[in-house]
Amino acid sequence: MIVPESHIVVIFGASGDLTRRKLIPALYQLFCDKLLPPHFAIVGASRTEFTDDEFRERMKENLKDTTDHLDEFLKKIYYLSIDTLGSESYENLKNRLEELCSSLEIPPNYLFYLSTPPNLDQVIPAMLAKVGLNSTKDGFRRLIIEKPFGSSLESARKLNSNLLRNFREDQIFRIDHYLGKETVQNLMVTRFANGIFEPVWNRNFVQRVEVTGVETLGIENRGGYYEQAGALRDMVQNHLLQMVALIAMEPPVVIEANAIRYEKMKVFQSLRPIKSEEVGKQVVRGQYIASTIKGESVAAYREEANVDSESHTETYVAMKFFIDNWRWAGVPFYIRTGKRLPTSVTEIVIEFKPTPHHLFDESAFNHHSANQLILRIQPDEGILLKIGMKEPGSGFKVKPVNIDFHYSSLADIKLPSAYERLLLDGMRGDATLFSRGDTVEAAWSFIQPILDAWANDASVPLYGYPAGTWGPIESDQLIEGDQTWRYPCKNLTDDGFYCEL
Ligand code: BG6
Repeated sequence: MIVPESHIVVIFGASGDLTRRKLIPALYQLFCDKLLPPHFAIVGASRTEFTDDEFRERMKENLKDTTDHLDEFLKKIYYLSIDTLGSESYENLKNRLEELCSSLEIPPNYLFYLSTPPNLDQVIPAMLAKVGLNSTKDGFRRLIIEKPFGSSLESARKLNSNLLRNFREDQIFRIDHYLGKETVQNLMVTRFANGIFEPVWNRNFVQRVEVTGVETLGIENRGGYYEQAGALRDMVQNHLLQMVALIAMEPPVVIEANAIRYEKMKVFQSLRPIKSEEVGKQVVRGQYIASTIKGESVAAYREEANVDSESHTETYVAMKFFIDNWRWAGVPFYIRTGKRLPTSVTEIVIEFKPTPHHLFDESAFNHHSANQLILRIQPDEGILLKIGMKEPGSGFKVKPVNIDFHYSSLADIKLPSAYERLLLDGMRGDATLFSRGDTVEAAWSFIQPILDAWANDASVPLYGYPAGTWGPIESDQLIEGDQTWRYPCKNLTDDGFYCEL
C-alpha cells in the first residue's frame, strides 16, 4: 500500500455531522492502519469558536481507543474558526497552514475537503484561489467536494465552470461515497475478472436489470436539506446512476481514472432521455405517510421538522429506462430508492432470459424470480445466483436453489469504510473513484426532464405510501407482465414480502 506524501487536510464544515461521524473516524482508522504519512495534520475549519483542545475533545467522542494511539492521533488535529465569506479568514488560514508546515516539517501540500452546504461550493474555492491556495507551484492543492454537486443541470454546469476558473480538473475530486464502498468496486472485479459473466452480460441473455437502494430510516434531522433535494436528487442522480454505469459500461482498457470515467460517460450518453410526457408512465414518485411500524407510531414526512405541511417532495422514486447502445438495446433498467421502507438494502439484480423451451415440471419454479444473479452491496454483502435444480425423487420437478457467497466469509479481511478509501485516494491523487465534471453533468441531463415535469405538470401524481411499506404499489406496474421487483430481506438469501427484516 502506497502511503501518501506528507500533507495537511483542511476540513471546511468541521463542526458538522459528517466530520464527526465519518471523516475523523475514517482518518483515525487510516492512522491506526499506518496509512497516513509521518508528517501530517488535520485542520478543522468552521464558524463556531473552538480552541484546538476543545475541538479535539469533540472529535474524541466518536472515536474508540482500540490501539492506545488515540492521543497521538488527536495531537494531529488543529482548529481554526473562520468566516467562510470573509477574505481575512483565508489569509488567517494561509498563515496557520504555513506555521504548521514549518513547525511540523510538512511540505505545503494541501487537501481541502468541503463538507459544507452546497451554496459554499463555489465560494470557498474562489476564496482559496484569492490567497493563492490553488497554486500548485510548491506542492499539491486538491479539493474534495461532497455531494450534492449542484441541484439541477444548470447549477451543476455553473458550478463546474466556476471551479475550473481557479482549479484544474485534476485538482477537483467530486465525491460519491457509494464509489468508495468495497462491494461497489467489486462490481468491476466480478464482471471483468471472471470469464463466465461477460459473455452473457448483454441484451441477448439479460431480461432486465434492477437496482434497489432503500432505507428504513426517515430523513432524520435533515428536513431543511431534504425538502430542497428529494429522493431523485439525493440518491438517484448520483449513487444509483453511478451503480448503473458500473453495471452497464464496457470493459475499460486499463483500471485507471480516465479509462473508467470514459466508459461511464459513454453509458450516461446512451441513456434514452425520458420525455416530459412519459414521466408519469416511467417514473413513480411517492412520499411516506404516517403509520405504525412494529407497534411504534411513525410520523408522516409532512410532519417532520423543517418540512412543509403540504410538501410535494418525494421520499421514494422508482423508474424504468433504457440504455440505447449495442450491448443493452431493448433491456429495461429499473431503479428505485426510498426512505422508511421495510428494510435497508442496496443490491443489483440481473435477471436472465428464460430457456426457450420448457422441458420439465416447472410448476414450483418461476423463471423470473429464480433465474437471477444478485450483487448485494449492503448489508450481508455478497453474491447470490438463483437457479433451478432437480428436486430429488421421481420425475423431473424443478426447484429454485441459491448459490451464495458472503463477504463475511473472508473473515480475516476488514472491509474499509467508503470514506477511508476515498480520503486515502484523494490524498494520493487517485481520481478513479471520483466523478469527473462532465459525467456529473451527463447524469443531471438525464434527471432534469423529470424534475421539470414534476415542477411544471400538476397531473403527475405523488403517491402516498405508509411508512414501513415497499412504496407505492404503482411501482410494480412499471415492470412488464406479471413480474415484480425482487423484495429483498436483511439477509441476502431470504426473499419474499414477509421475511425477517
Ligand atoms: C446519502 C444521502 O448520500 O446517502 C442519504 O444523502 C442516504 O439520504 C445515504 O441516507 C445512504 O448512504 P448509505 O451509505 O447509508 O447507503
